[in-house]
Amino acid sequence: MADKQATLNVDGNDVEFPVLQGSTGPDVIDIRKLYGSTGKFTFDPGYKSTASCESALTYIDGQEGVLLHRGYPIGQLAESSSFMEVAYLLLNGELPQEQELNHFEYTISHHTMLHEQLRHLYQGFRRDAHPMAIMCGVVGALSAFYHDSTDISDPEHRKISSHRLIAKMPTIAAAAYKYSIGQPMLYPDNSLSYTGNFLRMTFGVPAEEYEVIPEVEKAMDRIFILHADHEQNASTSTVRLAGSSGANPFACIAAGIACLWGPAHGGANEAALNMLREIGTPDKIPHYIERAKDKNDPFRLMGFGHRVYKNYDPRATVMQKTVREVFDALKVDDPVFETALRLEEIALNDDYFVEKKLFPNVDFYSGIILSAIGFPTTMFTALFALARTVGWVAQWNEMISDPGQVIGRPRQLYTGPTQRDYIPMDKR
Ligand code: SDX
Repeated sequence: MADKQATLNVDGNDVEFPVLQGSTGPDVIDIRKLYGSTGKFTFDPGYKSTASCESALTYIDGQEGVLLHRGYPIGQLAESSSFMEVAYLLLNGELPQEQELNHFEYTISHHTMLHEQLRHLYQGFRRDAHPMAIMCGVVGALSAFYHDSTDISDPEHRKISSHRLIAKMPTIAAAAYKYSIGQPMLYPDNSLSYTGNFLRMTFGVPAEEYEVIPEVEKAMDRIFILHADHEQNASTSTVRLAGSSGANPFACIAAGIACLWGPAHGGANEAALNMLREIGTPDKIPHYIERAKDKNDPFRLMGFGHRVYKNYDPRATVMQKTVREVFDALKVDDPVFETALRLEEIALNDDYFVEKKLFPNVDFYSGIILSAIGFPTTMFTALFALARTVGWVAQWNEMISDPGQVIGRPRQLYTGPTQRDYIPMDKR
C-alpha cells in the first residue's frame, strides 16, 4: 500500500514515486517506474540503500540489534526452540503443533541418505580439498539426481526439493569431513535427531557405537538456529538472483554456498578463529587493533563489523554464552576464548570501532565453540552453509511462489569507450 509519495526533481521535472510501508522497519521508495519516466537509473553498488524484494521471513533492526524470524526474537528461539522447529517456522510462517513438527521431522529424516552414485563423486576430489569446494560441487550435482523434483512451477516439486536439500546437507557436509580425513562416510541413523545424526556422521566411526553428548547436541542445534536465516545477505541474494532465472533449487543453493564461502561473509568464522590463534595472547591485541585501523593495511578484525548491525549482533550474544556451556560440558578450555573476550573489550572501548559502530558479529565466537567440539577450521563455513540452507530454501520458496516474480537484471553506469571503428592489425 502507498498513501505517501516521494518527489524527485529530474532535469527540472518533478517525478512522484509511491512510498511503500512494511509491517515494521524502513519504508521503501518504489522506483520501478524511474527509468521509464526519467531515462535514468539509480546507482547503489553494494545495495547499501536498496531493498531487493518484499519478504515476511526475517526482520533485522541493525540499530537496535534485533533479529526476528517470522516475528520471534532470535534469543527466544535459541533458548527455547530447535533447529527443525525454526526450519518449519521459516518455511510455513507459524510455529508447528507437536504433530506437525513430528511429521516434518519424520519427513526430513527420510530424505537424509545420498544416492550411492553421489557418494562416488567425492572420490573425484583431492583429499585436501576445502570442504566448501566439495559442498559447491556435490550440492550442484544434486540437480543431476532429482529430475523428478525440479519443475519449480509445481508446489509439490518445490516442497520435496526443499526437504531434500535441508535433509541432505548434514550428510553431505559430514561426508566432506570424513573424506578429508580418510575415514569412511557413515550412513544417517534416523533414530537420532537432525543434529545428533549430523554429529554421529561427522565424529562416529564404523568400529564402535557413537554416543551423542546431549549438551553438545543442544549447542550445535543452537548454532544452527543462529545461522538459519538473515534477511537479504549476500548469499541469500545470490540464491534469489539464481532462482529468478528459473534455475533448479539445487543449482541455486550451490550458488549460495559459493557466495557464502567468501571471507567477508560466511568465511569469516574460519578467518576469525585463525586470526585469534595468530594473535595468541592478549598482550598482542594492541598491535592487531592498530593494524585493523590502518587504512594502508588490508587486515580487518574478522568477526567484527556488519553491513546491517550497527549494534551488538544478537547472535554473538548467544554464541558467547554458548562457549562456556560447551567448555563446561566437554571439560575443555581454550585460552583463545580469553583472547577473544579481551579483544572485544578493547575494541569496544576504542574510538575507531565505536565511531564506525563495529561490534562482534555471529562469526566472532562461533569458531571457538566449533573448535572445542572437534571441527577443523576448514569445516566452519560448511556448517554455516548447512544451517543457512534452511533460510536459502525458505527465501527461494518465497520468491518463486510470488506471482509478480521476474528475473533479476540490474543495469549499470557505463564508463567504457563510446562506439569506435575496428582497426586492422596493420593500422594499429
Ligand atoms: C556475515 O549480511 C549478513 O547478514 C551477513 C551475515 C549473515 O548472517 O548472513 O550476518 C554473516 O557475513 C557476518 C559478517 C562476517 N564478516 C566479517 O566478520 C569480516 C570482517 N568484517 C568486514 O569485512 C565488514 O565489516 C563487513 C564486510 C562485514 C561489512 O562491510 P561494509 O558494511 O561494507 O562496511 P565497510 O566495509 O564499508 O566498513 C565501514 C568502515 C570502513 O572504514 P572507512 O572506509 O569508513 O574508513 O568500517 C571499517 C571499514 O574499513 N571496517 C572495519 C571492519 N569492518 C569494517 N575495520 C576493521 N575491522 C573490521 N572488521
